[in-house]
Amino acid sequence: MAALAPLLAVAFLATAAHAADPFAFFDWDVTYMTASPLGVPQQVIAINKQFPGPVMNVTTNYNVVVNVLNSLDEPLLITWDGIQHRKNCWQDGVLGTTCPIPPGWNWTYNFQVKDQIGSFFYFPSLGMQRAAGGFGGITVNNRAVISVPFDTPDGDITLFIGDWYKKNHTHLRKMLDDGKELGMPDGVLMNGKGPYRYNDSLVPNGIEYETIKVEPGKTYRFRVHNVGVSTSLNFRIQNHNLALVETEGSYTMKQNFTNLDIHVGQSYSFLVTMDQNASSDYYIVASARFVNESLWTRVTGVAILQYSNSKGKASGPLPDPPNDEYDKTFSMNQARSIRMNVSTGAARPNPQGSFHYGSINVSQVYKLRNEPPVIINGKKRTTLSGISYSPPDTPLRLSDLYDKKGVYTLDFPTMPIDGPLVIRTSVINSTYKDFLEIVFQNNDTIVQTYHIDGYAFWVVG
Ligand SMILES: *[C@@H]1O[C@H](CO)[C@@H](O)[C@H](O)[C@H]1NC(C)=O
Ligand SMILES: *[C@@H]1O[C@H](CO)[C@@H](O)[C@H](O)[C@H]1NC(C)=O
Ligand SMILES: *[C@@H]1O[C@H](CO)[C@@H](O)[C@H](O)[C@H]1NC(C)=O
Ligand SMILES: *[C@@H]1O[C@H](CO)[C@@H](O)[C@H](O)[C@H]1NC(C)=O
Ligand SMILES: *[C@@H]1O[C@H](CO)[C@@H](O)[C@H](O)[C@H]1NC(C)=O
Ligand SMILES: *[C@@H]1O[C@H](CO)[C@@H](O)[C@H](O)[C@H]1NC(C)=O
Ligand SMILES: *[C@@H]1O[C@H](CO)[C@@H](O)[C@H](O)[C@H]1NC(C)=O
Ligand SMILES: *[C@@H]1O[C@H](CO)[C@@H](O)[C@H](O)[C@H]1NC(C)=O
Ligand SMILES: *[C@@H]1O[C@H](CO)[C@@H](O)[C@H](O)[C@H]1NC(C)=O
Ligand SMILES: *[C@@H]1O[C@H](CO)[C@@H](O)[C@H](O)[C@H]1NC(C)=O
Ligand SMILES: *[C@@H]1O[C@H](CO)[C@@H](O)[C@H](O)[C@H]1NC(C)=O
Repeated sequence: MAALAPLLAVAFLATAAHAADPFAFFDWDVTYMTASPLGVPQQVIAINKQFPGPVMNVTTNYNVVVNVLNSLDEPLLITWDGIQHRKNCWQDGVLGTTCPIPPGWNWTYNFQVKDQIGSFFYFPSLGMQRAAGGFGGITVNNRAVISVPFDTPDGDITLFIGDWYKKNHTHLRKMLDDGKELGMPDGVLMNGKGPYRYNDSLVPNGIEYETIKVEPGKTYRFRVHNVGVSTSLNFRIQNHNLALVETEGSYTMKQNFTNLDIHVGQSYSFLVTMDQNASSDYYIVASARFVNESLWTRVTGVAILQYSNSKGKASGPLPDPPNDEYDKTFSMNQARSIRMNVSTGAARPNPQGSFHYGSINVSQVYKLRNEPPVIINGKKRTTLSGISYSPPDTPLRLSDLYDKKGVYTLDFPTMPIDGPLVIRTSVINSTYKDFLEIVFQNNDTIVQTYHIDGYAFWVVG
């Protein structure tokens, strides 16, 4: 595959650049690094020696150019979350569309950020690498002419929360390939750091924790991303109101929360006003959801919110999570209560040229059903509608470019098939400007989150 990279570069240069818009250039060296977030030295993935990686702070219409050097010992792809790829799918950074960057090679991603003003994150998309790091924030700012439905905050704080294993990503990958479960994570990191020692018997001494320093009376925008592997987390800041204003590039109707469930892959912006008396520091907590919390206490991330006039350390119990062990409706209602503010921000024409999403002509309905992981060919695999996707040796778009037949089949079923589970390179057949309605049916006993890569989608029910 290495030999194909120069050819790809040629194809890519042929696409037109939006030269009138500003450019933002980034040079990233992706390396391994040793860190001890949970007190045990382990190999993590860093970008320019930072773990988590740097925040890419850009403004609508910027042409983003990221030269990524892969200094790992295995192939690498970086994907840009929900950012729509205004150039072409070679920038996608997921297996199937693009060739991975071979070890020792570099590849320059080139895309334009458009319309989606808000908070995203990038991450390595291959082989459990995200469980080792390599992620970082993408902040897309509004142009000055675009109005925003709240006053400019006094500060901007990015917070990555996520479950974490002390085992390295190659070990985790091997466990799945050997047909094993990953088991309960060893903890939750916040900005790559372990928990504050809120309880001497639960948290060992000497763990480095995150401290967020703030000024009394000011309002900050917290951009919180769940970058974990599989654990839904309940996020809360002791004694502080979380005013939700944005999620993944869409402004929401402003709404107050004392805590919010943030599922894997989700990004939320909260306005938080420092309106407390600073009698002590405050806990920032992200704890595991939909599990037996008395068994999962170690899967709790704790950082510290510190006022400049703080009178002492945080102590005592953490603020309570929702008390609903047997009732999932609280969490579902919380999610359902979040509404997009459609009277603000940049309008986004849909591919059928209409702003009236309700009157869109749906080209095709797909029902995607996921089922609990099974063993197929000795490996632990999950299936969607009965199929576990097998990445082909030749990426899909490359096989199209060179008219290479037989790499994949355009036969992904519109409805789940009740038959033997298979591993296959099966792809949804769709047409440019089609509108798909996708129904997700969760046949597993745990929460699933879906990432519709490179697409904006509209939740209708
Ligand atoms: C991000 O960029 C915006 C616009 O250029 C700037 O106002 C802001 O201070 C930057 N934020 C950070 C955290 O650097
Ligand atoms: C690799 O990096 C070099 C120097 O930084 C740059 O000139 C070149 O265009 C990059 N190659 C690719 C394929 O992005
Ligand atoms: C929605 O956006 C409009 C326009 O910016 C703003 O005036 C309004 O307060 C917002 N509504 C809510 C509930 O956040
Ligand atoms: C990753 O974990 C495996 C299994 O514990 C170990 O053999 C290997 O040395 C680790 N790799 C690194 C680079 O730490
Ligand atoms: C610390 O955690 C242990 C185990 O869950 C619990 O028994 C103990 O009460 C906690 N201590 C404090 C001070 O909360
Ligand atoms: C949110 O809480 C603040 C006080 O912290 C209050 O002023 C505001 O009205 C509340 N907003 C909503 C939408 O309930
Ligand atoms: C500060 O606030 C806490 C919690 O609201 C309260 O218990 C405490 O008495 C207050 N301290 C002072 C000095 O006002
Ligand atoms: C959670 O685990 C504890 C400790 O093992 C057990 O006593 C309790 O019954 C469990 N709760 C549920 C709902 O399974
Ligand atoms: C949907 O189809 C109807 C009937 O063919 C047509 O009149 C209408 O304009 C279409 N709507 C959109 C948004 O394309
Ligand atoms: C894919 O869909 C197009 C448009 O509906 C159709 O013409 C084509 O035959 C389909 N291809 C396959 C392999 O089913
Ligand atoms: C999964 O599907 C099977 C067969 O349709 C059904 O019997 C079962 O109840 C479903 N399980 C869940 C958790 O949805």
